[in-house]
Amino acid sequence: MIIAIDGPAAAGKGTIAVKLAQHYGLNHLDTGLLYRAIGRLMTEQGLDLDDPEAAGAVARQLRPKDLAHADLRGREAGELASRVAVHPEVRAALVDFQRDFARTPPGAVLDGRDIGTAICPNADVKIFVTASPEVRARRRTDELNAKGRDVPYERILAEILERDERDSHRSAAPLRQADDAIRLDTTALDADAAFQAAVAIVEAGHE
Ligand code: C5P
Repeated sequence: MIIAIDGPAAAGKGTIAVKLAQHYGLNHLDTGLLYRAIGRLMTEQGLDLDDPEAAGAVARQLRPKDLAHADLRGREAGELASRVAVHPEVRAALVDFQRDFARTPPGAVLDGRDIGTAICPNADVKIFVTASPEVRARRRTDELNAKGRDVPYERILAEILERDERDSHRSAAPLRQADDAIRLDTTALDADAAFQAAVAIVEAGHE
């Protein structure tokens, strides 16, 4: 079984994807890590993030060990990722890896922006996870505060809106809900309720 999960930043798709993979005994790939690692490698090598050729070359050389970098999950890496993710050269270089991962038995949950639309258009189940920008910003701010990082809510909200805008309006595989994806709005749901709703969608898709 292949489950495709897409949606904007901080909507809860990562948590849902991890839990679904555990629940169904599937592999899990957080595809955002691929773009984050490319952004990080380019910065370390002093390369211009807006240079499609340089970005494509780094993407073609990406190795699994590059995904283990310590601070790939942070805000800065997310920003770098969103900038390199606009290049078709980068996206093309990552397609085969993601499809091979999805096809490897027993199947997988992949989460990202273009899984249901571009990477796995034939996925068994597609879920588009979303939430209001304000709730997403509030969750991110609370997460950071819990780690002792004092970042203002307004700043996080502005970053989220900027990332939504870039991800949704780029020409290469923009963030959008696949026609056959089920929308899961987590605005009023906690993590457990969101997971239960996702399981219900998977079960309904397999009747
Ligand atoms: O999901 P995450 O926040 O880790 O993604 C970081 C950035 O990587 C996104 O804002 C998006 O620009 C890019 N991305 C993408 N396609 C994916 C996953 C992530 O373009 N499948």
